[in-house]
Amino acid sequence: MSSQRSQDLETDGHQTVAVRPPRMADGAGMWRVARDSETLDLNSSYAYVLFARDFAPTCRVALEGDKVVGFVLGYRRPAHPDRLFVWQVAVDANQRGKGLSGRLLDDLVAGARTDGSPIEWLETTITDDNIASQRLFASFARRWSAEEHVAALFLTDHFPDAHDPEPVHVIGPLSHAPAAAEV
Ligand SMILES: CC(C)(COP(=O)(O)OP(=O)(O)OC[C@H]1O[C@@H](n2cnc3c(N)ncnc32)[C@H](O)[C@@H]1OP(=O)(O)O)[C@@H](O)C(=O)NCCC(=O)NCCS
Repeated sequence: MSSQRSQDLETDGHQTVAVRPPRMADGAGMWRVARDSETLDLNSSYAYVLFARDFAPTCRVALEGDKVVGFVLGYRRPAHPDRLFVWQVAVDANQRGKGLSGRLLDDLVAGARTDGSPIEWLETTITDDNIASQRLFASFARRWSAEEHVAALFLTDHFPDAHDPEPVHVIGPLSHAPAAAEV
């Protein structure tokens, strides 16, 4: 394949990936992406459909045509609605390294700002061995000119199944949207 042809395909591929809040019909695709990631704790399929129904404003899906190729699951913490907890984010292996996860996070946080209920802080937990995830959130913090602090949160003792500890990363304040993330 010529390099020109391969560049066209890449450009086309990028243009056809749309990002929007999920609908219930996307839940199965989100579950499939989580399963195929081979990294995430796979939740029940029910959980993804439930989030698509009840937490759509704080979740996003990436779609290539009708196919879900990435998602972010999040919710506003009930006691602190300006704090978004990002539970899971994943994109299919053939979509990685293109900035798609960053786009999912930017769209979610920027969307909340324009809805009149800004998200000021993002929280997520990351195991120490998940370098890709650590880089993703460090990159997000830089784009939003925000600070990132890490503290112990979910310890091995909290889990019944020898789960690795999950330190919490707190990123904010999110008052400086990058120009590309304004919606
Ligand atoms: C983590 C994951 C979501 C990143 O998705 P992605 O779309 O490839 O990430 P992006 O292209 O938006 O990259 C964001 C940043 O992370 C960096 N990054 C992404 N993958 C990386 C990797 N494997 N190693 C090192 N850095 C990586 C990018 O270089 C970029 O940093 P930059 O802006 O400073 O250049 C993806 O690898 C994935 O789905 N992994 C499996 C599921 C998972 O572990 N999810 C996180 C825990 S919930």
